[in-house]
Amino acid sequence: MAFTVAIDGPAAAGKGTVARQVAAHFGFGHLDTGLLYRATGRRTLDGLTPIEAARALRADDLDAQDLRSPEVAQAASRVAAIPEVRAALVDFQRAFARRDGGAVLDGRDIGTVICPEAEVKLYVTASDDIRAARRHIELTGKGHDITYGAVLEDLRQRDARDSARATAPLKPAEDAVHLDTSQLTIEEAVAAAITEVNAAR
Ligand code: C5P
Repeated sequence: MAFTVAIDGPAAAGKGTVARQVAAHFGFGHLDTGLLYRATGRRTLDGLTPIEAARALRADDLDAQDLRSPEVAQAASRVAAIPEVRAALVDFQRAFARRDGGAVLDGRDIGTVICPEAEVKLYVTASDDIRAARRHIELTGKGHDITYGAVLEDLRQRDARDSARATAPLKPAEDAVHLDTSQLTIEEAVAAAITEVNAAR
């Protein structure tokens, strides 16, 4: 039976970690929808137009190794503002959301646009400082040479662009449960999310 958990929020708030661990806990599939926009943005850096890149996207492209860089993140947030790019990616996300056995999708517009009927909607946030610090540790740990200030600037720019766009802007669904992870450990954030899923099952 289909059961959808929609997790939205700004960059580096902990959505991905919560989504992955909730999916593992319940045996659900997990789709990091940011990867769709990152893979599309990545291919525009090679010269494709954003709409061509989105329409040509294949599941294999989501496994590319270099999708996590801040340069690709910026390209993702630029292509994500284009309505035709978003439209080209809707069917894949909705099919994933309704797969048998349950699904967790994390992104910016899952609870508002992609799966407004999701059984559980979470809106995950954390303070700017904490998000930047966490992402800085993650990126430097993977060998990226980047300062804390540059990470903070990347997150703020993307959040501003993602919130201001006309199509599917970053915002909480009216019926989303808000989860501020600033003062929570990963275990506490995941436990809070699991409690919400259990309450809806
Ligand atoms: O979540 P992540 O940081 O990987 O997303 C990269 C970019 O993709 C975001 O800044 C946003 O512009 C875009 N995105 C989106 N809608 C989603 C997921 C990501 O617009 N559902």
